[in-house]
Amino acid sequence: MYVYHNVRDIRGSVASMRNGGARVGLVPTMGALHAGHLALVKEASRISDQVVVSIFVNPTQFENADDLAAYPDTIDEDLRQLRAANVAAVFMPDANVIYPEGAETIVETTRLANMLHGLVRPGHFRGVTTVVAKLFNIVQPDVAVFGEKDYQQLQVIRRMVHDLHFPVEIVGLPTVREADGLAMSSRNLRLAAEDRKAAVVLNQSLDEAERLVAKGCTVETLRDAVKSVISAEPRASVKAVDICGADDLSEVSGQITSPVAIMISAQFGETLLIDQRVAHP
Ligand code: PAJ
Repeated sequence: MYVYHNVRDIRGSVASMRNGGARVGLVPTMGALHAGHLALVKEASRISDQVVVSIFVNPTQFENADDLAAYPDTIDEDLRQLRAANVAAVFMPDANVIYPEGAETIVETTRLANMLHGLVRPGHFRGVTTVVAKLFNIVQPDVAVFGEKDYQQLQVIRRMVHDLHFPVEIVGLPTVREADGLAMSSRNLRLAAEDRKAAVVLNQSLDEAERLVAKGCTVETLRDAVKSVISAEPRASVKAVDICGADDLSEVSGQITSPVAIMISAQFGETLLIDQRVAHP
């Protein structure tokens, strides 16, 4: 497995893979890899011939310098896991490679970035689209794999790729969970033991949501039901229960007649956790 730090080297490497006829898959990450990330790598291996993983803790998607500074760094373990997963190349640039001195160009999905989770984290999705656009231009993959766990992020990236005609196929993968149903996240390590146990309520509320939607219900009933399942757990404090059209995050109300995305966030102690489910009527 090769580890590259600059644009010329990763481009050269991907160019030779493609000259050899390989279809190249990219999995963008910020490191601190867990089984969720590795599932994306596995899917990338299944649908392409050579897999490139990028590890870059992107400063422009953090609104808060403390959050950025606190981002876990487990690079040796990350590289070991990627080697074991047969990844061909890792792209691990410094910030000044991605954002050269004087950089001023941004990429933004003007509607999708500034709703729902984007309202809670202003500028976050602009940071994501800007860095993902750069990664696509640098690595030039045929396909890129993202997790549905960050559902709004996935939709934002799909929109950007469509709008800017990136020749990259976007594949979304269902959320990988711990045995008790908690969505895997590097944030789970920050939870106190009691909060870790309590956090299963998020997945439980989504199970209930899926049942309700399958049976037939309104958006309003669904929102109340999800909130009440989470609120029954005293250690959880609900931050948002967003329900919208699964394809374009459009506003929905009344009886649910097409697939909806249910995106929830709740605070456990100091830690904000998110989870999501697409439910079909
Ligand atoms: P990061 O949080 O490292 O996540 C990298 C990818 O792993 C994302 O596509 C995310 O949705 C996916 N992922 C995380 N937890 C998952 C889980 N439990 N199951 C399935 N997939 C999971 O998301 C980012 O980094 C950044 O915003 C990035 C896209 C790399 C741009 O900087």
